[in-house]
Amino acid sequence: MRRHAKPSHKDQVYTMLLNSTTPLRTRVDFGPTVRHRTGDILRQVECGKRVLLLHQTSLPQKWLDDLRASLDRQNFDVSLHTLPDGEEAKSLEQLTGCWEIMQSKEFTRADSVVAIGGGAVSDLGGFCAASYLRGINLFLLPTTLLAQVDASIGGKTGINLRAGKNLAGSFYFPQSVIVDPEFLTTLPAREFRSGMGEIVKYAFIEDTIAESTDYKRSPAPLARALADNFSAGLSADNPFLAPLISICIQMKLAVVLKDPFETRLRRCLNLGHTLGHGLEKVTSYGISHGEAVTIGTVFAFKLAVSKGMIAEAELQKVEHLLKTMQLPYDVPAGIDVEKLVQAVAFDKKRTGAGIKYVLPEKDSGKVSLDTTVPVDELADFIRASLAH
Ligand SMILES: NC(=O)c1ccc[n+]([C@@H]2O[C@H](COP(=O)([O-])OP(=O)(O)OC[C@H]3O[C@@H](n4cnc5c(N)ncnc54)[C@H](O)[C@@H]3O)[C@@H](O)[C@H]2O)c1
Repeated sequence: MRRHAKPSHKDQVYTMLLNSTTPLRTRVDFGPTVRHRTGDILRQVECGKRVLLLHQTSLPQKWLDDLRASLDRQNFDVSLHTLPDGEEAKSLEQLTGCWEIMQSKEFTRADSVVAIGGGAVSDLGGFCAASYLRGINLFLLPTTLLAQVDASIGGKTGINLRAGKNLAGSFYFPQSVIVDPEFLTTLPAREFRSGMGEIVKYAFIEDTIAESTDYKRSPAPLARALADNFSAGLSADNPFLAPLISICIQMKLAVVLKDPFETRLRRCLNLGHTLGHGLEKVTSYGISHGEAVTIGTVFAFKLAVSKGMIAEAELQKVEHLLKTMQLPYDVPAGIDVEKLVQAVAFDKKRTGAGIKYVLPEKDSGKVSLDTTVPVDELADFIRASLAH
């Protein structure tokens, strides 16, 4: 019998090319009262019989009762788990608590996590579904405006670590996002304003999205629609609110389908976020996310004017819209400028001498995704623009 030669590791480096088509399967069920159909929607996607139902303490009981009733009508075996309010829900301790419940109830990969609440619940619930048994079904019912137009759409999930926010997580797409605008009728005013801040951002990236994706914009720009419909103040009973949420979801989905893992286009959604994150950090989250984003958006317009990328008139249009909608546009007084400079320009997590900054270009509605601003230039610009 011929002896085989000893296996050699020489020349064994090779590249395997796998099919890179992303199997995205996000479905959005949208409309007033759609929450009552949650049980039917779960049945339609043929999930198992067990459900881990996650919510936070301060979610009004009636929304939970509606959801329980809908799941009970379809005879799901529901394990209800209450999470602490705010960012505390997004912890390793809460995540392991969820895993243990699912393990003790013998959840299989056919079973589901259903998360009802704001972005904190959808982030934790999403990561919980992504990580248990390497991925089980996920259904999200976003109940804050910010979660309906942003946090629940796009598959970013995660928890906070002691070193910072959202440091552990994954991309994981839900089976369905069930968006019922009626949830917003109980939303505190501050949370409502925060969501509106994120919506305004969409107005200034609308043309970039329409040019690069399948999103079909209507003839009237979103910025004009916002000014026309929200000048009398922001409220959940505004008839334009539901169509507005639907438009924002369509925009975000269109971007996510083109660039799910944020290699380039998806960065447009970060308009206003570079300075915004810095503001949230230096105020210890005393300023809401959406408010930080509107102030950050105005700052991005100022920076673009100073670099000759847009005319001063574009900046005035943004400021005018935010004034009309009674949303903030200026960095609040009393901010420690050097701490802000540190948080934005010299953040430990940044690498290199420049920061990729999403800046408006040409007309409002279009953004540049490839502008790198040297950190020293950015630091000086923050100091100069806060000096008066
Ligand atoms: N994954 C993403 O793409 C993404 C995007 C943006 C933000 N986020 C994350 O989302 C979180 C912020 O989300 P948020 O702004 O929705 O706040 P949140 O989740 O902290 O909720 C705010 C508060 O409102 C309460 N609440 C929720 N719905 C309510 C309702 N209908 N009526 C009355 N009270 C209600 C909640 O119980 C909570 O106490 C942050 O953790 C942020 O990191 C994630």
